[in-house]
Amino acid sequence: MKNIAVIGVGYVGLVTGTCLADLGHRVVCLDVNEERITNLNKGILPIYEPGLEEVVRRNVNAGRLLFTTHYPDAVNGTSPDLAAEYVFIAVGTPSAVDGKADLDYVRRAAESIAEVMDHPIIVVNKSTVPVGTGDWTADIIKSKQTRPIKFNVVSNPEFLREGNAIYDFMYPDRIVLGSLEREAAEKVAQLYLPVRATIMITDLRTAEMIKYASNAFLATKISFINEIANICEALGADVKEVATGMGYDKRIGRAFLDAGIGYGGSCFPKDVLALAHMAKERGRHPQLIQAVMDINADRRRQTVDKLRELLGGALQDKKIGILGLAFKPNTDDMRDAPALEVIELIEAEGGRVQAYDPVAMQVARQIKPNLELTVNPYECGAGCDAVVLMTEWNEFKQLDLRRLKNLMKSPVIIDARNVYEPEQVADMGFSYRGIGRGYNYR
Ligand code: NAD
Ligand code: UDX
Repeated sequence: MKNIAVIGVGYVGLVTGTCLADLGHRVVCLDVNEERITNLNKGILPIYEPGLEEVVRRNVNAGRLLFTTHYPDAVNGTSPDLAAEYVFIAVGTPSAVDGKADLDYVRRAAESIAEVMDHPIIVVNKSTVPVGTGDWTADIIKSKQTRPIKFNVVSNPEFLREGNAIYDFMYPDRIVLGSLEREAAEKVAQLYLPVRATIMITDLRTAEMIKYASNAFLATKISFINEIANICEALGADVKEVATGMGYDKRIGRAFLDAGIGYGGSCFPKDVLALAHMAKERGRHPQLIQAVMDINADRRRQTVDKLRELLGGALQDKKIGILGLAFKPNTDDMRDAPALEVIELIEAEGGRVQAYDPVAMQVARQIKPNLELTVNPYECGAGCDAVVLMTEWNEFKQLDLRRLKNLMKSPVIIDARNVYEPEQVADMGFSYRGIGRGYNYR
């Protein structure tokens, strides 16, 4: 059992802190957002993540998981025997205006740690940060310490997916640890021993780069299959079967070959952009990464093109039902959600929107207070000229499409996630467009 502090209780910090507690460690999670901490102390979670609430409750009840806003309590403990040996940084690194990762939260967290630390610690960086940030963090801590106290910085990039976060923590494909001092990385590896995953130890910058390269590669797979989907539409082939056929080749694999509305979320868009920015800053020309982003941006516009095509022209005064607001199923996260952009494009053309999502409606209300929300998918389609399926929630896979059709003004579906079978939906009398399904285009 080790004493650990986790700075930031967002998706990564809360999952990491909770799961480390579940591995038997004593974890104090800190956030500067007082409301988040007050709610967590009442058992109210700031995010929707399947299964997380129960693991939080179990570890809070066992006394292994605590929440605070007070840096000295988190880092030094309320008594010397509770002082944290490891301090994880898991604060946000959003895109700045120029596409660069904004390191302001990381800087402030590092300064706060430095100002209060009264004993040697290992600072473990879990935030996704540009290559070189580990060294920069060490410089900040050194400059802000009130007296010299030994510390190490270890990069431990996080690969969890929202919606699968606990599983991804407990059964990771690998754990990457980067440090200039191998001993520090090995100490962090000890924390994860019960997880029994492959552990890779590298230098700091290589660990940071592994994270960006992994996200960029997965985004590339998505843009690649979306480009193939466009070509399938032109030639009358079916991209779903193409992806399956490609996926049987072990060198390719089937994962991340679902054509659709393009990637969104809090990671791929900002991390691919930040990688391109890093490359350009150093005089490189990241052509492939640029194409990946361009293809992804086109996905949203092409979806609206399909709407216009099936509605016979302008969207002015057309009523469109949006099924799904979260950037993917099993999360309420709407950061860079494709639905937001599609809604804006429809509204810009004078169309009206009503929307439904099984879990993201509360978040939607905060981001877009004027968005008309409905209580279920059928209400969402009621009176609509068309429905666009944006998120592949299971609930939408099982819809009674005949009931939906009877409620709609005209039976038009744009299936931006290829959830339905084109022939079946057409047989029910819908005008239907999926993504890259040649059936519609032959
Ligand atoms: P988030 O926005 O959900 O949470 C960040 C939290 O940090 C917030 O609660 C915020 O109040 C808190 N915070 C900000 N500044 C602070 C400070 N100085 N001291 C204490 N707390 C502070 O972010 P997230 O989605 O958990 O992402 C965190 C990092 O992990 C990012 O770098 C992200 O790229 C990376 N990451 C995210 C995911 C994911 O699926 N969300 C996956 C892998 C990596
Ligand atoms: C991603 C990475 O997978 C994870 O390793 C990293 O830690 C954080 O970023 P996440 O953003 O939670 O995780 O979701 P993910 O399942 O990777 O999907 C990202 C986006 O790509 C979503 O918008 C999803 O709909 C889209 N996607 C995914 C596709 O369009 N097609 C696919 O085949 C797979």
